[in-house]
Amino acid sequence: MFINRINRGQLITGLALSWACIFAFISCQKNEAGTEIPQDKTYTFQRPDNFPPPTYTFENNPVTEEGFKLGRKLFHDPILSRDGSVSCNNCHIQAVAFADAQQHPLSIGVDNRIGKRNAPPLTNLAFMKEFFWDGGVTHLDFTSVNAIEADFELDESLANVVRKLNGKPEYPPLFKEAFGIDSITSPYLLQALSQFMVLMVSSNSKYDKYVRGEAGGQLTARELEGRQIFQLKCGSCHSGELFSDFSYRNNGINSDFTNDLGRALITEQESDNGKFRVPSLRNVARTSPYMHNAKFWTLKEVLDHYDNGVKDSPTLDPLLKNNSKPGIELTEEEKEKIIDFLQTLSDFEFIADSRFFQQD
Ligand code: HEC
Ligand code: HEC
Repeated sequence: MFINRINRGQLITGLALSWACIFAFISCQKNEAGTEIPQDKTYTFQRPDNFPPPTYTFENNPVTEEGFKLGRKLFHDPILSRDGSVSCNNCHIQAVAFADAQQHPLSIGVDNRIGKRNAPPLTNLAFMKEFFWDGGVTHLDFTSVNAIEADFELDESLANVVRKLNGKPEYPPLFKEAFGIDSITSPYLLQALSQFMVLMVSSNSKYDKYVRGEAGGQLTARELEGRQIFQLKCGSCHSGELFSDFSYRNNGINSDFTNDLGRALITEQESDNGKFRVPSLRNVARTSPYMHNAKFWTLKEVLDHYDNGVKDSPTLDPLLKNNSKPGIELTEEEKEKIIDFLQTLSDFEFIADSRFFQQD
């Protein structure tokens, strides 16, 4: 069956935008009801008070309004793909915190090729040191090279994208405005995309407002109980304000890793077989499906996995091995409370933030 990629991409973008509008409407209503929305509409990076220091090298690529807007245009432009059919926002959709909202588990690229992995949400990238499920990329600027050149994503060479951009009249003046250059080169292409992505800071969930003692941050008794259980049973790996210690671990999804070795692909150590980066859980109630291989569709399934489904193997994380049966013991009520807590991590201001909307 032949599916027209462009039409589908446009459809999905349209869908995402209409969701975003719905959420914008909800936040407007909240606003009218008197809840303060501290949304900062400027184009400078700001560290939220409850976040760690950023890791991104802003000194080499300071964010400007022109650079951000150029990055935004590139992020939405299928010119970055070999046949002009796929753009970054095909797989990274704002309405779901820039994860992949399509109704298939793994991301689909040029020629409908299916990758092996689930597209992660793009949030708080300015605070991460390593990228991708296996940490194979160590600077944000290089994540875009990977996306452009991967045969199951955009399947295009960086050099050819640069050639196409130089040949499209609207782009050279935009690069000139953003970077003062007369001819587009690849480092500036990557830097523009990074300027767009580093401002994707998600820090205005109900949970954040609770932590910072702001209006709108009242957690219910159940949510608070859920938080306690979460801290006890999940918090050693999903730790800190980003809900990840950014280590690589095997949480028992598989016991046979031939399909995807995970971290071992980078380190070539057998002891890293089947280990993947502990993902941040911000906006997790919106970013289904879950895990590197998109194995689960609901948070209930994830919790059932930790309780009952953890597969033992030599590299299974020691934290999940302790018991007579591998995993984390959880009652049904504990699972429900954890899910209630995880829902407080949804940041509706972020997914409705119009700075990230496609403009043209
Ligand atoms: C075909 C779907 C697809 C497209 C198109 C795509 N991505 Fe991705 N993206 C993915 C997948 C899948 C991963 C995870 C890859 C991995 O872990 O090996 C990913 C990972 C990333 C990450 C790392 C996030 C993290 O938490 O480590 C960034 C940043 C990113 N993509 C940016 C982009 C940009 C910029 C573009 C456009 C130039 C783009 N992506 C296009 C599917 C896609
Ligand atoms: C031993 C460390 C560890 C513990 C403890 C742990 N996790 Fe995880 N978690 C991981 C790793 C590693 C992954 C990614 C695994 C993969 O994709 O193969 C993950 C993935 C997830 C995901 C999927 C997120 C996404 O974006 O795909 C959710 C949700 C999750 N964990 C919730 C929890 C909850 C709730 C608990 C407590 C009941 C918990 N985790 C305990 C390490 C851990």
